[in-house]
Amino acid sequence: MIGHRGAAGCAPENTLAGLRKAKELGCRWVEIDVRFTADGQLILLHDDRLERTTNGRGKAASMPLAAVRRYDTGHRFGDAFRGERVPTLAEAVEVLSELGIGANIELKAARGRAAETGAATAALLSRMWPPHLPPPLISSFLQEALLAAQACAPSIPRSVLFRAVPGNWRVRAEKLGCVTIHADHHCLHPALVAEIREAGYALLTYTVNDAVRALTLFDWGVTSVFSDVPHIICAAAEAARQPAAADLSPTEVPRQGAVR
Ligand code: G3P
Ligand code: MG
Repeated sequence: MIGHRGAAGCAPENTLAGLRKAKELGCRWVEIDVRFTADGQLILLHDDRLERTTNGRGKAASMPLAAVRRYDTGHRFGDAFRGERVPTLAEAVEVLSELGIGANIELKAARGRAAETGAATAALLSRMWPPHLPPPLISSFLQEALLAAQACAPSIPRSVLFRAVPGNWRVRAEKLGCVTIHADHHCLHPALVAEIREAGYALLTYTVNDAVRALTLFDWGVTSVFSDVPHIICAAAEAARQPAAADLSPTEVPRQGAVR
């Protein structure tokens, strides 16, 4: 279970508060989106523009970090998050270190900046990633971004992102040296999941906010789901692991938390 954009259904997406919320809700991994500002700073932001998630206007790629930071990215989620600012990737890594959770860093980029975004992110992660965390996972829809990350830091694991998985998915994954495949869950079916898993790849799917759907995907063999509401998926997965009480003889009744 991977908290999507932190825990986007429960706290402002791609914020430090969102990372803390994800941990509070039981996540051991989160996904965050990373892109460049005009002055070459890596920030957590999904969209090209600021409008949807902040009270600012404009394209992040045309603004220096200081300008992006003038805007509030928490107020839309309620007063508890008022004052939250768009974080840098470096700040996010520090918070992940403190929380002890892993991360999938998704590379986003304005036109023409994919390669430099991939290289700069890989360089920062090589420099800053805390050794006590599992290795980060770099993913992208952008082939140039993944190639640049690979050239800069070949040992950081990579993932290719698809909406619908194309027929040549394996060739593309091999070319980019990817260890996992990420895809939109609406485009998956059992035979495709089996094909990818049997080829030895982990399969991660987004964005799954319905518990029944998550359990179906796990039954098909999906490795992990990205969710905006991680606590709902965690609770459903945990309940599915518990044998029904009626199936247990008195001597088999487990202590709480003993069943895995
Ligand atoms: O990385 C999984 C998912 O986040 C990809 O789509 O648009 O939510 O970044 P998007
Ligand atoms: Mg993303």
